[in-house]
Amino acid sequence: MTSSASPLPEPASRRPALLVVFHWITVLALVVAVTLVFGREAVDEKALRTLLLNLHKSFGLLLLGLGLARLVLRVFLHPLPAVAELPALARLGAAATHGLLYLLLIAVPVCGWLLASSHGKPAGFFGLFTLPNLVDMDEDLGDLASELHETGAYLLLGLIGLHAAAALHHHFILKDGVLRSMLPALRRRP
Ligand code: HEM
Ligand code: HEM
Repeated sequence: MTSSASPLPEPASRRPALLVVFHWITVLALVVAVTLVFGREAVDEKALRTLLLNLHKSFGLLLLGLGLARLVLRVFLHPLPAVAELPALARLGAAATHGLLYLLLIAVPVCGWLLASSHGKPAGFFGLFTLPNLVDMDEDLGDLASELHETGAYLLLGLIGLHAAAALHHHFILKDGVLRSMLPALRRRP
């Protein structure tokens, strides 16, 4: 899939495989976690609502694990070579967006964990284990954590929209290798 017509001066053509795999598992887990919690709104039956929320918590915790693993990997890989030549402002914008995405990927699930703990409802991980409560039951703290969780989640979704739009802009308008650098290497044609 590598383009021989690329006008770029030998940029890094691909991100490391583990970064790419974690990136796309994160996308899938996020879609599922959000679908579960919104799908729950359409359900009346109590047992099903509980199941959907428990699954939301499990996928949310998976996202927390992925976020932490990605952050460690990213620090370890720093600095990554540029994929495309970009103006300084665009580079700064991309770095700020990526930094904020990492931050929210960790802060949103931690607020969810805090929310569950302060409501006295421990967070389990796919029935395999249950996390310890971060705090004792506390309605006020629960309300605050709920606000932060919700606001953080919408901020994360908005930022992802922006981020995905930027990736598509690179691919279809600028026609550089930025999106390809994050795609799995399904090559190679003879
Ligand atoms: C990146 C990960 C996560 C995202 C994007 C996310 C997103 C959301 C969203 C959009 C809502 C609905 C907000 C609303 O309409 O009020 C929500 C609710 C909730 N989330 Fe998360 N969440 C994540 C992780 C977690 C985790 C790890 C936990 C717990 C361990 C959790 C527990 C909850 C709870 C208890 C609710 C409230 C459900 C309700 O009472 O209606 N979330 N989450
Ligand atoms: C759950 C949704 C997403 C999250 C949380 C997310 C997060 C991130 C983060 C944190 C990075 C920076 C990686 C690094 O260099 O450390 C990144 C890179 C990238 N993402 Fe996403 N992303 C998401 C969805 C998408 C989607 C839907 C697309 C494509 C349409 C996309 C395309 C890219 C590309 C092309 C890069 C490489 C940018 C570069 O190296 O300059 N991402 N993503």
